[in-house]
Amino acid sequence: SHGVEDDLSNEAEELLLTLPREKNFDGTYLYQFNGVWYRHKFLYGMISTRRHFQARDSDIIVSTFPKSGTTWLKALTYAIVHRSRCAFEHSPLLTTNPHELVPFFEISYSLNKKDIPSFEHLYTPRIFGTHIPYSTLPDSIVNSNCRIVYICRNPLDQFISCWHFLLKLAHDKESETLSLEEYFEKVCNGVQHAGPFWEHVLGYWKASLDNSHKILFLKYEDLKEDTHSYVKKLAEFLGCPFSNVEEKERVIEEIVKLCSFENMKDLEVNKPGRNIPGHIPKNSDYFRKGEVGDWTNYLTPSMSKRLKNLMEEKFSGSGLAF
Ligand code: A3P
Repeated sequence: SHGVEDDLSNEAEELLLTLPREKNFDGTYLYQFNGVWYRHKFLYGMISTRRHFQARDSDIIVSTFPKSGTTWLKALTYAIVHRSRCAFEHSPLLTTNPHELVPFFEISYSLNKKDIPSFEHLYTPRIFGTHIPYSTLPDSIVNSNCRIVYICRNPLDQFISCWHFLLKLAHDKESETLSLEEYFEKVCNGVQHAGPFWEHVLGYWKASLDNSHKILFLKYEDLKEDTHSYVKKLAEFLGCPFSNVEEKERVIEEIVKLCSFENMKDLEVNKPGRNIPGHIPKNSDYFRKGEVGDWTNYLTPSMSKRLKNLMEEKFSGSGLAF
């Protein structure tokens, strides 16, 4: 039988043939669509998301450039928004990886090509994750009252985090890989999944300045330095501020602790060997060091200088700096 999804598969496959492509870190291809590079599966998922996803006003979208704190922000958002559903000692976050509780559009829409996902199992408000850049989001997300939380990270740390993540994935698949220097060159040219980095970040940054009720723009480093304040800010932005009673009962502290790197990394569900059906990475791959400034252990002075200069040039005049 040839349903709608078969047509989409064909359309996506035909589209692929027309798109510019470049080799990725592990020898697979990245495809460029609307100025942005995608891995094959995420490109398919992105096209399908744009075609089928209908946002509700109550929806919350956690949007990020990969390896910028997605897992953490998903966990915090879930913990804040669904805090009255059960006591913290029974939180689903203790037994389920955040990427299962807060699904990525691009993965959900690429898993089962016959069925459009219903997301019936998600509580309201529904929370989704995505790496789709602002300029390519489905119209219904941009035009509805749903809210977007975005987190970005110092590009030097993001690069090193990504490098380790890709190495782990390539190691599991036994694929050949680029050297750190070769991959660095690609990244400086914007050729990485969801790249260029600066365009992704600037797209959400500018949109957040234009519409601060709809988009909250956060930085990993700020969140790390003062998680408590940002959890409070996040709750206010999402329309569920903490009451005085909750503050007295130290609910914010509970959330910070629950979602902390140290707590999440050591949970049984996030130990090596576990993974979410349909996800290639293992749950443990999402937790490495969780620190600010790890790039100093890997980048040569000339590399860090080049990346800093590049960002300065790209972000100049935007009001955004790292
Ligand atoms: P490092 O590789 O620098 O350790 P993403 O979630 O977007 O894939 O990003 C992964 C990065 O966030 C990794 O960075 C990971 O260790 C870190 N991370 C994961 N969970 C975290 C948490 N709860 N708190 C802080 N950092 C976290």
